[in-house]
Amino acid sequence: MVSLLATVLCLAVAPLATAYPKAEAVEARCGNIPSNYQPPSITTLPDPFTFINGDRVKSKRDFRCRQKEIAALFARFELGDKPAADSVKGSFANNILTVTVTNNKKSIAFNATITYPEKGKAPYPAIITLGYPNIPKLDGVAFINFPNDQIAGQIGASYRGQGLFYELYGKNASAGSLTAWAWGVSRLIDALEETRGTKINVEFIGVTGCSRNGKGAFVVGALDDRIGLTIPQESGTGGSGCWRVADATKAAGTNIQTAAQIITENTWLSQRFDPWTTKVSSLPIDHHLLAGLVAPRGLLVIDNDIDWLGPTSTAVCMGVGQLVYKALGETDAFGYSDVGAHNHCLFPDSQKPQLEAFVKKWLFDKEVDTDGVFVTSRNITLTDWYKWKVPRLY
Ligand SMILES: *[C@@H]1O[C@H](CO)[C@@H](O)[C@H](O)[C@H]1NC(C)=O
Ligand SMILES: *[C@@H]1O[C@H](CO)[C@@H](O)[C@H](O)[C@H]1NC(C)=O
Ligand SMILES: *[C@@H]1O[C@H](CO)[C@@H](O)[C@H](O)[C@H]1NC(C)=O
Repeated sequence: MVSLLATVLCLAVAPLATAYPKAEAVEARCGNIPSNYQPPSITTLPDPFTFINGDRVKSKRDFRCRQKEIAALFARFELGDKPAADSVKGSFANNILTVTVTNNKKSIAFNATITYPEKGKAPYPAIITLGYPNIPKLDGVAFINFPNDQIAGQIGASYRGQGLFYELYGKNASAGSLTAWAWGVSRLIDALEETRGTKINVEFIGVTGCSRNGKGAFVVGALDDRIGLTIPQESGTGGSGCWRVADATKAAGTNIQTAAQIITENTWLSQRFDPWTTKVSSLPIDHHLLAGLVAPRGLLVIDNDIDWLGPTSTAVCMGVGQLVYKALGETDAFGYSDVGAHNHCLFPDSQKPQLEAFVKKWLFDKEVDTDGVFVTSRNITLTDWYKWKVPRLY
């Protein structure tokens, strides 16, 4: 068994933040990608701090604009579009929140069951779970079960276009299931905001899921600024791993999930992604930028030492993603913890203190030291994987 080498990256000490800053509005031009845009090939991880037109990001405000561009690039190349809806209604009874969404005169409805904590006091912060939670119960935190499989099917690749999302937007909608779930969680939060009696504090919402649902949790957190803490668990390639690093790991002889494999297995990604899976170095994005979309909000990436998940890929990918938090001066909002020697999706006790610290800080607004959490057994050299400078943004 590999012995654990905890690498603690000591980064600049950020002022003690007590809640993540609310996203500023950005100009409408942000996120407009020319329709004829052809991304250049780059074998290392793309620069978070340069716009596709070559302009550098010089301020936090510029970075908000770049985040819109990054989200648009993810939509165009990998995830498909996350559409708006005409209206959302919530109703609450017997601990079930029923969310009804109407678009273009069609409606769908789904139920989200809320499980309240034994201790703590209302209104409760809540963690939305894709599937059953694989993290332990947390004092004072409600869990809201989001029925992601009803929103978009994921039994196998033949389930593309199945689920409530596609009843509203058509079977040929560009969104893969991860994006459809992100849409559904956003509508669930819309409903929480307007429904009385749920005893949930909508200012303090987290999201989690494990494995395939961990890929989902990461995309959900990346695409909705109202989520203060994102906890993707053992999400591997398509979640906390990078496409480029996964391909390099596979080429070196490890049995890891790759872009070319993932599209044959399931419906998670948009079909727009298919042509790029044999040339991932031509993608203008990679998953360090998924972390870059969650920033500066809380992100605790839980991983496991299983080859298929790619512990080197996730450590490199999140190590480079962490540089975005460094640029923003928000390193206490980022954690990566890969602890092995346990079954897939079985949360080990040794990670509980990190989880509890992130929850206290980002869901209870308590002053807790969460800075510099980076645990891996892998000997990684981040500078092999990025060739750009990390600015300090104000
Ligand atoms: C939601 O749950 C209620 C109560 O169990 C049930 O009557 C209703 O049919 C459910 N709705 C959906 C959309 O599943
Ligand atoms: C969906 O796409 C398929 C294949 O391109 C096409 O045959 C079908 O007509 C499309 N359906 C709708 C509703 O647009
Ligand atoms: C880590 O890798 C570098 C070069 O890639 C090597 O010089 C170093 O000895 C390695 N360290 C350990 C602990 O294996």
